[in-house]
Amino acid sequence: MIRGRGRQMETTERKTEVIATAVMGYGTIGSGVAEILEKNREEIIRKTGRELRLKYVLDLRDFPGSPVEDKVVHDLAVIVNDPDVRIVVETMGGVHPAYEFVRDCLLAGKHVATSNKALVAACGTELLQIAREKQVNFMFEASTGGGIPVIRTMYRCLSGEKLQEITGILNGTTNYILTKMDRFGETFESALKEAQDLGYAERNPEADVEGHDTCRKLAILTAMATGKEVDYQDIPTEGITAVTDVDFKYAEKLGKSIKLLGSSRIEDGRVTAFVAPVMIGPENPLYSVSDVYNGIVIKGNMLGVSMLYGSGAGKLPTASAVVADMIEAAQFMDENIPLGWTDEKQSVEALDQAVFRYFVRIGESGENAVRQAESQMGPGESVKIDGMAEFAFLTGPMTETEFNRRKAALESQLGGKGTILQVIRAE
Ligand code: HSE
Repeated sequence: MIRGRGRQMETTERKTEVIATAVMGYGTIGSGVAEILEKNREEIIRKTGRELRLKYVLDLRDFPGSPVEDKVVHDLAVIVNDPDVRIVVETMGGVHPAYEFVRDCLLAGKHVATSNKALVAACGTELLQIAREKQVNFMFEASTGGGIPVIRTMYRCLSGEKLQEITGILNGTTNYILTKMDRFGETFESALKEAQDLGYAERNPEADVEGHDTCRKLAILTAMATGKEVDYQDIPTEGITAVTDVDFKYAEKLGKSIKLLGSSRIEDGRVTAFVAPVMIGPENPLYSVSDVYNGIVIKGNMLGVSMLYGSGAGKLPTASAVVADMIEAAQFMDENIPLGWTDEKQSVEALDQAVFRYFVRIGESGENAVRQAESQMGPGESVKIDGMAEFAFLTGPMTETEFNRRKAALESQLGGKGTILQVIRAE
């Protein structure tokens, strides 16, 4: 009996096929992928019946003394021309030369898994097309939401839905910064420094704090939801650099917080999308998404609302999503998995008719100014903080066009520009 089982195990071991893989870019995420392939080797074999063995690491640098020391190559051709390599990971970041490297790997008939949202947002349509032609897969689970399985959820679990809305906290760095400002009254700069030290921030923090990273992720999710190419440059985008500790003091008084949201609404084939800081209250499930965590609320016509939550950045959560793509590629070695993202173009409507409430700070404190704000802005709530020569007003819901008209009227009544210190969209 025992001998019999031993023989069976030997047979299983003999049958384990080795798939050679390569990682392009041995930075935070790339080294995380190498680590997971090693640490979860048995787990991966159990799930795929195949061993995903790292054969090459492509990087400009050498890594003497590291576990991949003997795998480092500096020439892409080594990977492209090695028929043993079936799955390639791209964790270099940026669009060039990542695009050229990924394209060459796909053209050579290799599956590619990437964590690079800039690449997917800029070149996803074309790379998916090449993958279809070559009957391989271009996969990008890790590009959006870090370790949160949102892409696969969209093309597998929600494939029976007509998606109506995606609203998310999609950037860990800015969520970390805003959380520190909210809870501890920290300055923007010190919170950003902490986020960078923890490895959350992009090399250039502008991509995070100006909302560009969220914008690209939102474009990817909107393309997945509509099945059409969404140009990230069409999405109106504001970052968090203008949000101050004073805004958080008012938010606290109003029982709200400020979060950087990326949101797309899809109605009758029309898409309205934006990235901006929004003042939200505890009734919104994203209110309690703090620190580096991400949350994504998805609304479908049958499902209603569902929320995904988890680690949106960081080495191992993101690398884990890349490895999940590699596993899916290993399970569908000879076929292309349709993700539903075609090369048809999706236009994005202007925000003029989108409805929000607005948090407005006014740099005057007299009763007259409060009365003027109330009469110009319509029904709402005014808030004062002791000792400050200013006040804030939270309007009722109105379109952007309507708000801008009322704001201009209030400014001229108050005596010109400069009297409105801050405007943040609100719920
Ligand atoms: N800088 C990004 C973030 C990394 O903070 O969310 C993950 O995409």
